[in-house]
Amino acid sequence: MASVLTGALADGKVFEGSTTLLPQSCQLVIFGGPGDLSWRKLLPAIYNLSVDGVLPSHFAVTAFGVPSEGTTDADPDQYIRERARSGIGRFSRQALDEAHWENFARSLFFVQGSFNDMRAYKQLKARLESLDQQFGIPGSRVYYLAVPPGLVGQCVEHLRAAEMICSPGDTAAFTRVIVEKPIGRDLESAREVNRVVGAAFAESQTYRIDHYLGKETVQNLLVLRFANSIFEPLWNAKCIDHVQITVAEEEGLAQYDAGTGEVIATRAGYYEGVGALRDMVQNHMLQVLCVMAMEPPWSLAPEVVRDAKVGVLNCLRPFATADVDANVVRGQYIEGDVHGQRVPGYRKEVRESFEAMGRELPRSSVHSTTETFLALKLYIDNWRWAGVPFYLRTGKRLPKRVSEVAIQFKYVPQILFNSNPDMQLEPTVLSVRVQPEEGLAMRIASKLPGPKIRIYPVKMEFNYASGFGGKSPEAYERLLLDVMAGDATLFMRRDQVETAWQFVTPILDRWEKAGVRDLPEYQCGTWGPVEANRLIEPDGRVWRSL
Ligand code: BG6
Repeated sequence: MASVLTGALADGKVFEGSTTLLPQSCQLVIFGGPGDLSWRKLLPAIYNLSVDGVLPSHFAVTAFGVPSEGTTDADPDQYIRERARSGIGRFSRQALDEAHWENFARSLFFVQGSFNDMRAYKQLKARLESLDQQFGIPGSRVYYLAVPPGLVGQCVEHLRAAEMICSPGDTAAFTRVIVEKPIGRDLESAREVNRVVGAAFAESQTYRIDHYLGKETVQNLLVLRFANSIFEPLWNAKCIDHVQITVAEEEGLAQYDAGTGEVIATRAGYYEGVGALRDMVQNHMLQVLCVMAMEPPWSLAPEVVRDAKVGVLNCLRPFATADVDANVVRGQYIEGDVHGQRVPGYRKEVRESFEAMGRELPRSSVHSTTETFLALKLYIDNWRWAGVPFYLRTGKRLPKRVSEVAIQFKYVPQILFNSNPDMQLEPTVLSVRVQPEEGLAMRIASKLPGPKIRIYPVKMEFNYASGFGGKSPEAYERLLLDVMAGDATLFMRRDQVETAWQFVTPILDRWEKAGVRDLPEYQCGTWGPVEANRLIEPDGRVWRSL
């Protein structure tokens, strides 16, 4: 593609698309506060909200849990402040500002304790009550359960037994709970998580988080579709040939020290035995698909938007077990080169990660069948999308980090530009780039200057960073504020989670039966196993090169 036309901001007024609810004074309690998610994402997100001055005026954060190294002898509050400082230093959108940090750190606290120890909850309760006094907070709480699904039940039951949950009708104070993904590891366990949470909290108090829904570009899909009159009439099977959704990651599971070659951080403890279908497809990718494909909601009210999304999940054509092999390809990375550096394969990474964690490698992991790549073809059997294939692919250790939703429109009839009947004109493609270069691009056919009709594709682009300046807020920033404001629009309702599990269940069943027989390999730094091509090439299409 030769020419690139870069879009810029047009003159215009900012239009308030919805009434913004304001975050209300509360205490945020992070279960698993010393853990990885809190270190990388949550504490940096709260710091950024604080720098931007958008947190409620009366607010404090308490981390709850056990440090990974066991217990800490240091002053617990000091422990979490140092951990937060290191996370902010490494992962924050905005650099750590010393003057602001001092102030921020004063609202960070830590209660050490195990999730199944009632005494720890009593201690936590007493601490929160004294912080209410200190910060002028009316007893409102947001409990963030950043814990594996198997621990959700005990956290919720102890909170209830310790009388730490207000009823939804309470007008003086509120309690809300945020449940992290993965919600279960299959339909049955997801229902169980939902059941235990539902026994203690009303649905209106429950926020099931999927951070992809908080990404600016995913939210922009809604605006693109419904705030521009040119797209919606084309957004259907009549005009669209197919859709590709890609979430590619460069990282693997473990991070190695460049000097010693030792594992310094790893997600293997969580990821091994989980894999790409449960980690990325069941939640993030299906949620993005819902925003892309849903019917126009008639309001931005949470239930209206969530009804529209679940409408897509309800129309997914279910896989019969026999269809799975033809429509789903999985893979696992083996040793290869990434940017000229040799990186180990998945199984070795897992082995070295367990050694570094001082944990015994489970027998099933020696020849692990966990998939680190997945491609699938699905159909949405409704009037809008009948017959349009959606190709989804995701993987770790791919050549680069890039996520996009690409909508390829139909080929034009060949009657006009037909000097070479074997070569079709390249079709129009609209791509919504989710990350890292957030933006929109449209590939269209254009005439090359000159006396003959020669056609060449050009790209019209809009880039968030150059258009709006600066880095977009992290998804967790937006989502945390939404919970404090009581806005559940971007959170998954119980039926959304369960319907998504229902869709992936035949795939899980089929794999369980197949064992390791059909697990293709791909080298680190490549675009997945060659088998992924057999999903798309027989249809006369190819994966986009990104
Ligand atoms: C998480 C998954 O939910 O999302 C990770 O557990 C994945 O495996 C991550 O790496 C990707 O998120 P992002 O925002 O970096 O694309």
